[in-house]
Amino acid sequence: GAPVEVDLTPIAEGQIVKVFWRGKLIFIRHRTAEEIKAAEDVNVASLRDPQPDSARVKEGHAQWLIVYGNCTHLGCVPLGQQGEYHGWFCPCHGSIFDTSGRVRGGPAPINLPIPPYTFASDTKIVIG
Ligand code: FES
Repeated sequence: GAPVEVDLTPIAEGQIVKVFWRGKLIFIRHRTAEEIKAAEDVNVASLRDPQPDSARVKEGHAQWLIVYGNCTHLGCVPLGQQGEYHGWFCPCHGSIFDTSGRVRGGPAPINLPIPPYTFASDTKIVIG
């Protein structure tokens, strides 16, 4: 599949936009300062799939979280801004993800994966 360009300008703070790349759903989340802080203020060693938030965003662009949009349990689409950590909540079997897309509860074995992407400018990413 060809790379997909996404203009970030219209995505408001606090908003999650869905795009498709290679037939896969991807969430682009414009995180608030509070959501970034929550993602960073975590004891990484306590996580099921231990990853610091800094390893899941691009340096200098911490407000943008880009993750695959299917639950790592059985593939349902989790609901944004829901669940205990206000990241995502999967309605199928109750997996909970934080504002970094890391699994924090329920049966999902791993974090929502990060697709390959780069920043073409401060307001444009290229997925793929
Ligand atoms: Fe999400 Fe099972 S598919 S918890």
